[in-house]
Amino acid sequence: MIHNAEVSYIPKKYHEAVCNWRDLYLPDYDLLMNNWDRFFPKDRPFQLCAYRSCNGCAVIEAGDNKGDPKYTRAAQMSEPQADTLLKAVKAQASTEFGSIQQHQLTLARAQDEQDQFWILRMMAEELRHGYQMFSLLLDDDWKSVSSHSGEDMVEEILAMRTGTHVLGAFNVDFDSFMDSIVFCAFIDRVGKYQLSMQKISSYQPMAQSMPPMLTEEAFHLAAGVVPLRRWVQKAAKDGDALITMPMIQRTINKWFPRALDMFGDERGGGTFVKFGFKPMKNAEAAGQYRDEVAQVIRDLNVRFVRARVPELSRKDAQRIVDEKEPGHGFDPEELLYVPDVKFFRRRGPHAYQQNDIDGEPIENKSEFQRRIRGYLSDVYAAGRDFGGYLKLIDRIAAGELTPPEAVPMLPNLSRVGGVCPCSKAVRWVNGNGNGEPADPGEG
Ligand SMILES: [Fe+2]
Ligand SMILES: [Fe+2]
Repeated sequence: MIHNAEVSYIPKKYHEAVCNWRDLYLPDYDLLMNNWDRFFPKDRPFQLCAYRSCNGCAVIEAGDNKGDPKYTRAAQMSEPQADTLLKAVKAQASTEFGSIQQHQLTLARAQDEQDQFWILRMMAEELRHGYQMFSLLLDDDWKSVSSHSGEDMVEEILAMRTGTHVLGAFNVDFDSFMDSIVFCAFIDRVGKYQLSMQKISSYQPMAQSMPPMLTEEAFHLAAGVVPLRRWVQKAAKDGDALITMPMIQRTINKWFPRALDMFGDERGGGTFVKFGFKPMKNAEAAGQYRDEVAQVIRDLNVRFVRARVPELSRKDAQRIVDEKEPGHGFDPEELLYVPDVKFFRRRGPHAYQQNDIDGEPIENKSEFQRRIRGYLSDVYAAGRDFGGYLKLIDRIAAGELTPPEAVPMLPNLSRVGGVCPCSKAVRWVNGNGNGEPADPGEG
């Protein structure tokens, strides 16, 4: 439910471009609309529009210009400020559209109809978040910091595919519906942190965009955590459960390092604070996120233990989980855990270090590659994302690259379309006319 917010739409041409994109990457949208009342009878139907909260602080809340009136136009900011903000808006837009492309791969494989419709609703809301970011790009004049027109920027973002998005987590293919669920529980949680921080943005249109997005983001977290609770309880009770604790753990191992990478290098983030865009630097935000993930995992473990040994009180189950106490009819090794922050990183001070899941270094490259495979699902370990990671590890071990040089090299999938300003990868009229996405090499 979006309360106390103004509704607006981007110009018709762009609105239609988003609808065309939706027809390609979210073909079940009509199914969602037709079943909305069945699954979400208490919630206002979804609407593709931008919302701006009417409330909010009128003065800058952090950074060098704290206390000054917030900026309502890009032209009121310094060039470096506007440039930093524009990049952040474009990156945010890329994540919104990117996650829909990822979920689309596995949506049909949901084990449960309700889970499927929750994911579908989440995808529609991500589309609205992308639309919201477009409204920021199109409602203002960014000429002072960008040679690209609004049209170019929208086109560039709509042309991105899994493998060409701005942030690593959005370039990783989903292998199963479990990815959809774990992604919502852990990667959308990063989104929640970023949006919460941007609620104080010195750029008022950004700050006012955040409260309605956060309301939706809370649903996305639930779309991940609620099925996970059910799965761990089933895994505890039913020896034939399709989803086991080790399977969930391996999926967490795939996504948690990407979530930490999304906060940016732990040594950075000062510029955002200085410019009044966020109240916290990267390390502080990532640390809070890590602690919150630990709480989520602890709660899942407590539910697992109580499902396995129903006579235990919550308090006793918490103690057993915290102390990994043996002798209660299950192996404490079955419990879920949070990988160390030094594990499988691609950004920050631990990028491309050969560490095990507890953060301990493994000197030998072959031994490291064998061990890291063991922490991940076979399907993921056989995929292009992990393959690209191992190639970089090889090159670092061979002395061809340093870890900092490797950081910007992923995604290493060739960038296609969109990024070139002369590309017309996204037609304002649907693709190549046969229902397929336009060839990104065209134009
Ligand atoms: Fe979002
Ligand atoms: Fe989300």
